[in-house]
Amino acid sequence: MAASLGSSALDALSSTLISPSLSTCLVFLATFLLLLEWRKVQRPRGFPPGPTALPLLGNLGSLPTQEPGMALYKLSKEYGEVFSIYLGHTPWVVLNGYEAVWDALVQHAKEFSDRPVIPVISKVTQRLGILTAPYDHSWKQQRRFAVSTLRNGNTFLKEKISEEVAFLLQTFRESGRVVDPTFTIQNAVSNIVCSIVFGHRFDYDDSRFRHLLHLLAENLRLFSGWIGQLCMVMPWLENCPGPHQRIFRNADALRDFYDESIQVHRQTRVEGQPRDLIDAYLDEMEQESQDQSASSFSDGNLINVVSDLFVAGTETTATTLRWALLYMMAYPSIQDRCQREIDDVIGSSRAPAMSDTASMPYTVAVIHEVQRMANVLPTGFMHATASDVIFRGYRIPKGTIVIPNLTSVLYDENHWKTPLEFNPGHFLNDAGQFVKPDAFLPFSAGPRVCLGENLAKMEIFLFFTSLMRRFQFYWPDPESQPCLAAAIGASRSPQSYQLGIRQRPDK
Ligand code: HEM
Ligand SMILES: *[C@@H]1O[C@H](CO)[C@@H](O)[C@H](O)[C@H]1NC(C)=O
Repeated sequence: MAASLGSSALDALSSTLISPSLSTCLVFLATFLLLLEWRKVQRPRGFPPGPTALPLLGNLGSLPTQEPGMALYKLSKEYGEVFSIYLGHTPWVVLNGYEAVWDALVQHAKEFSDRPVIPVISKVTQRLGILTAPYDHSWKQQRRFAVSTLRNGNTFLKEKISEEVAFLLQTFRESGRVVDPTFTIQNAVSNIVCSIVFGHRFDYDDSRFRHLLHLLAENLRLFSGWIGQLCMVMPWLENCPGPHQRIFRNADALRDFYDESIQVHRQTRVEGQPRDLIDAYLDEMEQESQDQSASSFSDGNLINVVSDLFVAGTETTATTLRWALLYMMAYPSIQDRCQREIDDVIGSSRAPAMSDTASMPYTVAVIHEVQRMANVLPTGFMHATASDVIFRGYRIPKGTIVIPNLTSVLYDENHWKTPLEFNPGHFLNDAGQFVKPDAFLPFSAGPRVCLGENLAKMEIFLFFTSLMRRFQFYWPDPESQPCLAAAIGASRSPQSYQLGIRQRPDK
């Protein structure tokens, strides 16, 4: 009896002494961890301001997704042209408006031209090539090589583009009156890069190539969606099973395709007589290996340069062209006016050429306005600071992720008369001549500016005028209006639509 009393007293004693101390411990531990976490999301002194971030999550609710919600817009109104948000523990600095973006990317080019280390991306690219490479000697050499190869091939490019235009026109002629042009345009545009890089194009019904373009589009979509963002916040996820493994599988399939082509080039090339970019690169590798100096021309850089051109050169240009056709359906009178100018300047007996741009201010203005409104890369590509920098009074440490918000430049109220309205007048002066406002930065600016800018402009002008010369485009559904809102996706692209096609009589 006494023993049982004693033991129950002991029980009572222990439950009041030990358990509380255990739970106190836990509470202490939790508070300690929370404080640690809390400290991780405290802005350092002098850092750009922004909303209070929560431990672990940061400002996850206000992620900079592609069609950003009002939340972020209010942030830039509240915190100004340079502000910061936290994704998990990682701060992102967002630059808003033409002045801040230009100041960083051009006036502070050295400090703002790095790329951040994002584990999911590094796993695929090893930070080699151009697009995701750090701001260093290797990047500079690879970029210079790509730029000069694109420039040397200028006449070659024009030839390839006209060749592709002929295929595209033929397909449109045979396609019937109403089509979804997405895939054909994507394939046509991609073929230009393929001709430069691989030395040949792919037929629109080549099923393997179709599949590869599909993987490419899917990866851009996955990466910019919630899966990609989750991987950015929790990099260790990359080794766990889950839907994000698809990103790596797709990337592997694409790389197998590049790799195969590179092997075929090695076997069939004639030294000193490059047929395309891969041959030229292999020549360069051999020459450089004879120099003693450290060369960045390597197998790893080659496959990533190939991949960068393929990835960066396809979706952006194809999406812009799809927007262009959509805007023409939405604004038939603007389409008419372009067609009159095309008929006057080019006529129907010869093909459009880049030299025509000088005498076609209206059409050129329309194309620029399409690019401004289309805003296909709303937040460009991520930059990172290459060193500590004091910028507009803020202290930003080396390695900080920086987002130049291109939307805020292309729609900047201080630089455009009607920022949210399609208006080719933005690019015309009172005399009807073409002018380009400073805030036209769809290709970004500074050392990292799009290296395909000239190629893209050639493609867009030649594809657009060739199509408009031969066809009239109309919205085929009398019950509805063209929808100019963007679909959710990697780049800002139009929702899929049906294009009404009517052949124009020869003028
Ligand atoms: C309408 C079409 C295009 C648009 C709107 C566009 C836009 C852009 C933008 C905004 C950037 C990021 C610049 C920055 O980091 O600040 C970029 C980078 C890049 N673009 Fe384009 N681009 C287009 C077409 C092309 C084409 C056709 C190619 C190649 C054949 C290309 C190759 C690249 C490459 C390699 C980079 C990375 C440059 C670097 O990191 O140094 N782009 N582009
Ligand atoms: C970028 O700018 C646009 C237009 O000003 C704004 O709506 C959007 O929220 C901004 N995005 C970010 C990430 O700040």
